[in-house]
Amino acid sequence: MEMRTRLGLLVVALTCMAAAPAAAQAKLPAGVTPAMIAKGKTVFTTTGLCFACHGMDAKGTVGPNLTDQTWIHGKGTYPEIVQIVTTGIPVEKTTLGKGAMAPKGGSQISEDDVKAVAAYVWSLSNPT
Ligand code: HEC
Repeated sequence: MEMRTRLGLLVVALTCMAAAPAAAQAKLPAGVTPAMIAKGKTVFTTTGLCFACHGMDAKGTVGPNLTDQTWIHGKGTYPEIVQIVTTGIPVEKTTLGKGAMAPKGGSQISEDDVKAVAAYVWSLSNPT
């Protein structure tokens, strides 16, 4: 094998090795980290009050199941979920006839907590 070919193969091999972990991370939406998802679970079941209407397991009670692939409002993308949590769902836009969702579920969580809880909700229907 020629020296240049061997060097070329080495470069290709190194590039693949470097790209592998990056590809695994790319499954998460932009701006989402595993730490945010973990924090979001705590927000969901405590200060965010989400559990009150969606259940501790997020499978739904008054509010819809958030763990399935069925989305009533939007397509379940991370930016859409952030939007829903921020603004809530006014009664005229609800579909189940079980009441509305106030902005942030009626809680006082910070913008960072909104992003974290949205990341957690996203992860429920997008196992990584
Ligand atoms: C007072 C009850 C209540 C609380 C608290 C609440 N929700 Fe909701 N949620 C609802 C209702 C009602 C809907 C809309 C159902 C409909 O269309 O009729 C909804 C819809 C949603 C949706 C859209 C689901 C879909 O299939 O499109 C998401 C996402 C969501 N809630 C996340 C959250 C998160 C995260 C929290 C906590 C920050 C939260 N909710 C707190 C009642 C609540």
